[in-house]
Amino acid sequence: MEPRPVVIAVCGKGGVGKTSLSALIVRSLTRDPARRVLAVDADPAVGLAYALGLTPPKTVDQIRQELIQTLGQDAPGDPAELLRRLDYDLFAALAERDNLAFLAIGRPEGHGCFCQVNQLLRQLIGDLAGRFDAVVIDGEAGLEQIQRRVMEMVTHLLVVSDGSLKSRRVAATLHHMSASLPGLAAAGVLFNKLTPGEVPEILNANPLPLIHVLHEIPAIRDFDRRGRSFFDLPWSAEMAKLEGAVLHFLNPRP
Ligand SMILES: Nc1ncnc2c1ncn2[C@@H]1O[C@H](COP(=O)(O)OP(=O)(O)O)[C@@H](O)[C@H]1O
Ligand SMILES: [Mg+2]
Repeated sequence: MEPRPVVIAVCGKGGVGKTSLSALIVRSLTRDPARRVLAVDADPAVGLAYALGLTPPKTVDQIRQELIQTLGQDAPGDPAELLRRLDYDLFAALAERDNLAFLAIGRPEGHGCFCQVNQLLRQLIGDLAGRFDAVVIDGEAGLEQIQRRVMEMVTHLLVVSDGSLKSRRVAATLHHMSASLPGLAAAGVLFNKLTPGEVPEILNANPLPLIHVLHEIPAIRDFDRRGRSFFDLPWSAEMAKLEGAVLHFLNPRP
């Protein structure tokens, strides 16, 4: 096992397929029962729950809100007690199945309020992530929403883009921003939902390191529409190629 977890942030413009791909990556990584995987939903809409077939009892935002309410009523307790309570709450907020744990962030933290609570939560989420072999973050549109402490741990930035010029521009910006991530080992783009006809033009114009091209797959859309777990998505040549490309991105071998 590596000394620190592999932390994959899946980012890109809205609608490009971040949640779908996050779930498929989680499925691939958990296929090895020895690998402990933490999935983090950093999108306030909590869409990853359907795709993983797991519902967290609480979001991190709910924990924060509850604690802030308690603190409003009582005098703020001693810091050690606060830490113990948050640690307990965070574990209680995990949904778990076999070697997979799932944490939903909910609404991102607000500005300037209850710094101590936010700071402790950030630290605890970082500690939590450190107990896993791999962490997959479904990162909503940008990078800003993701807890900073977790962002500092990101080792692999997987930028998703479809064929649209807008999403390719967002991808380029995100890739550019990734230069500021202190722990980054690799960043690249995964093109999703391309039609075979689009591929040559898109790839010709692409300046970013390429992870993979995934085509439009009707079963993905169908499972998404029904809210079915992607763990039940039929295995196919496309799925195998995606898994191979992602594992190679995480652990390139010459
Ligand atoms: N490879 C694919 N083939 C077909 N549909 C896809 C594919 N990837 C994503 N989709 C569909 O695109 C829509 C947006 O996907 P989603 O994963 O929710 O994107 P995001 O999380 O980036 O907003 C969903 O309806 C999903 O089913
Ligand atoms: Mg999403």
